[in-house]
Amino acid sequence: MNTAKKKIWAIAGGKGGVGKSFLSTNLAIDLAQKGNEVALIDADFGGANLHTFFGVSYSRVSISDFIKSSQLALEDIMIPTGIPGLRLASGAHDVIGSANPKQMQQSRLIKAIQGVQADYVLIDLGAGIASHTLDLFLMANSGILITAPEPTSVENTYRFIKSAFYRKLKNVMVHSGVRAFLEQVTESKHEDNPKTPAELIYKISEINAQAGETLKYEIAAFKPKVVLNQVRTPNDVRVGFSMKQASMKYFGINLDYVGFVEYDSLALQSIRARQPVLIHAPDAVVSGSIRRVGHNIRQNFHLVPTN
Ligand SMILES: Nc1ncnc2c1ncn2[C@@H]1O[C@H](COP(=O)(O)OP(=O)(O)OP(=O)(O)O)[C@@H](O)[C@H]1O
Ligand SMILES: [Mg+2]
Repeated sequence: MNTAKKKIWAIAGGKGGVGKSFLSTNLAIDLAQKGNEVALIDADFGGANLHTFFGVSYSRVSISDFIKSSQLALEDIMIPTGIPGLRLASGAHDVIGSANPKQMQQSRLIKAIQGVQADYVLIDLGAGIASHTLDLFLMANSGILITAPEPTSVENTYRFIKSAFYRKLKNVMVHSGVRAFLEQVTESKHEDNPKTPAELIYKISEINAQAGETLKYEIAAFKPKVVLNQVRTPNDVRVGFSMKQASMKYFGINLDYVGFVEYDSLALQSIRARQPVLIHAPDAVVSGSIRRVGHNIRQNFHLVPTN
């Protein structure tokens, strides 16, 4: 294990039910099967269910305990999954109190995740754009967005990208005039507000040229990865390319389309059998696709259209 080179992957998606937990679980298994030490963190505070994917019906300890007790380290609540090399920090059991961790608890969780001893840490995030979800997404080396090829899911993904980007800017734009302007832009719906990051750069450069340069750099460095899940047709596969184009055109943000996973009834069957699909049906097409997505994320590859 080389903790100095530890990689953190955050798996998010604006919409519920698109397959975030299904893919987090199986991507973590793939990494463990390749000989890595992997920690999987269930950070879906309102609807934690990763234990079910492994057939673990109940964990005595969970993130709730970590959040409640400053004496506990994240390592103290990790449980074995039955897969060699893969440990799980089971999600919060009690919704009240843990569903929206306070700022201090969030910072402690982020620090603890950074300190986990592993080659890879995978974080399964809840749906939506809660501040703790955005912060965990932004602290990762790879922020991975799971999207279904449906207009509602695509729309929520754009909303997530925009929210994450604006949150990132608020964290890096320390100049008070620029911060005030950013708050005005993100918190009010005035018609003069910049519509795209390109316009935002222009307006911010007018307030403070150095902040404008920082903004250009931050936009170039912000490269969320997108995985299309539950694809059924070649047209569904192409949705990833359209999203990449639209994100560049409207936000100036570069998405890396890292792969797609087919719709397969084995996904549900494996959950019912309480066995992750990579274990339940390792030779199935869907398992091969998940391994390919993992490979592309590790190698920093992305898909290009073939026509
Ligand atoms: N590739 C797939 N083919 C078929 N069904 C799938 C696929 N991926 C996920 N599913 C099904 O979709 C359902 C939701 O998956 P999952 O729980 O992973 O979504 P989620 O995004 O984590 O949801 P939530 O926002 O509630 O946490 C599950 O029943 C799962 O079996
Ligand atoms: Mg989930």
